[in-house]
Amino acid sequence: MTEATKVRILDQRTPEERDRPFLPGMGKTWLLPLYDIFSRVAGVRGLHERAVELAGVGPGQAVVDVGCGTGNLSFAVLAAHPDARVTGLDPDEDALRRAARKALRRGVPLTLVQGYADRLPAEDASLDHVVSSLALHHVDDDGRVGFAHDALRALRPGGKVTVVDFGGPAPNVEDAHHPAHGHGPAHALRHLPRLVRSRVAQSPAVARNLGDGIVALLVEAGFGDAREVEHVDHRFGRVTIVQATHP
Ligand SMILES: C[S@@+](CC[C@H](N)C(=O)[O-])C[C@H]1O[C@@H](n2cnc3c(N)ncnc32)[C@H](O)[C@@H]1O
Repeated sequence: MTEATKVRILDQRTPEERDRPFLPGMGKTWLLPLYDIFSRVAGVRGLHERAVELAGVGPGQAVVDVGCGTGNLSFAVLAAHPDARVTGLDPDEDALRRAARKALRRGVPLTLVQGYADRLPAEDASLDHVVSSLALHHVDDDGRVGFAHDALRALRPGGKVTVVDFGGPAPNVEDAHHPAHGHGPAHALRHLPRLVRSRVAQSPAVARNLGDGIVALLVEAGFGDAREVEHVDHRFGRVTIVQATHP
């Protein structure tokens, strides 16, 4: 690791937050080792790269990646802008350790903070970008409202929030209520996208993002121009990319 390649993990949880529950990336902590494999097979990297393009990060800008997990969106930011100052935030210590190992292997600087979406690790008006991918549907109602308000506090005027997550118009009901039936590993693999899509469509967590869920969350916090800038019909469900600017 060179002097320029600094990777660190900071625990910024309050004593009360140490017992605060969270929904891990794969739903269960013991499934974490499969997260990056699943993400690769699912083609999530393309979503990350598109989100980074749309965010328009500039040279040396300060970026917080909320619900960073194993760091893949942070790495997409750093691949496009090696001098960006990126901080990944997540409550999952094991995911942060994986992200740190990956950053060291890639030789990129990354600060990782153990904490929650409603308390961003940043001074007031200090961030150029808040980005988040596939994480908001993991955050409970109070946490989501807290996230939107804290993003407004931490962004500088003109700073941008870019959220990628399942959401937008409600999914196809046929698909949601008629998941594939059958047996055996080959059948399961062939129908995995349909099974996951059906689970996503019926998830109460994702339900909060449906319709204009994410846009409304940001508007209510004070991001007047929040809007869906793009959507992707991913084989695991409709993915919305929502953006807003600090007024
Ligand atoms: C599906 S993973 C997405 C990881 C990564 N952003 C990506 O795109 O691959 C969702 C992440 O949200 C995190 N998470 C859950 N509750 C959270 C909270 N309250 N605040 C911040 N992150 C949270 C989980 O630990 C998990 O790492």
